[in-house]
Amino acid sequence: MATTTLTKAEDRTAVGHAARIAHVSKSFGGPEGRQLVLDDITLDVAPGEFVTLLGASGCGKSTLLNLVAGLDSPTAGSIETPGGRPALMFQEHALFPWLTAGKNVELALRLRGVPRSGRRAEAERLLGLVRLDGAYGKRVHELSGGMRQRVAMARALAQDSRLLLMDEPFAALDAITRDVLHDELTRIWRETGVSVLFVTHNVREAVRLAQRVVLLSSRPGRIAREWTVDIDQPRRIEDTAVAELSVEITEQLRGEIRRHGQH
Ligand SMILES: Nc1ncnc2c1ncn2[C@@H]1O[C@H](COP(=O)(O)OP(=O)(O)O)[C@@H](O)[C@H]1O
Ligand SMILES: [Mg+2]
Repeated sequence: MATTTLTKAEDRTAVGHAARIAHVSKSFGGPEGRQLVLDDITLDVAPGEFVTLLGASGCGKSTLLNLVAGLDSPTAGSIETPGGRPALMFQEHALFPWLTAGKNVELALRLRGVPRSGRRAEAERLLGLVRLDGAYGKRVHELSGGMRQRVAMARALAQDSRLLLMDEPFAALDAITRDVLHDELTRIWRETGVSVLFVTHNVREAVRLAQRVVLLSSRPGRIAREWTVDIDQPRRIEDTAVAELSVEITEQLRGEIRRHGQH
């Protein structure tokens, strides 16, 4: 037994964290106008954990997520994602409009190295996971905003990453569609065991989804406070417990915004 090679899945669970962000700072600009955007951020995401990063617009949430995604490098500090390259999902679906829903998902499978023969079935399985059975042949313009974000979610899941980074993915959707997608995301997170680092400026959304809410201050972005959300899933955005914690967090967020003179 001791000599058994670890399978990929076992290998992943053996890792102590999905992301480790240690003393990360990030500045932009040249010598004449340097702006410190993130200051000494330290944050771990455990395997299978759902963390939301909450803060006012411009506080550096996307900057931090891009650093975790490896799209940019920190000015100081280090970031590890031992499970491999994270998957990313944005507010804009960024689907290719000339491809069908199914082909958009298959493209991610191809980039992951899934052989051609297996791609169609896997794309259909992933579309089923986001409850888009039958949408394989639909073009992007035929899909509603909510359906597009479902395809984007299927495409992110197609990367088979152990860490899903989501940057306000539902911010452009109407409240009812967003509510439905919160349920779907919670279900998918529980079914797949993927770790999620989810960015939002919406306090209720943060509390609705997360096991842990991390509040970022503004100018520079620092971790101001964090809360463990000990409310059973599935939650509803209108649950009393969700509302109560949201009030408490909103108070803190208001304080942060007042301190930094932002909207
Ligand atoms: N590539 C960049 N070059 C210069 N400044 C940037 C760049 N990316 C972000 N910023 C600045 O960093 C700050 C934080 O931006 P961002 O991370 O997008 O905030 P958030 O996602 O919280 O709204 C803003 O002041 C923004 O102008
Ligand atoms: Mg942003």
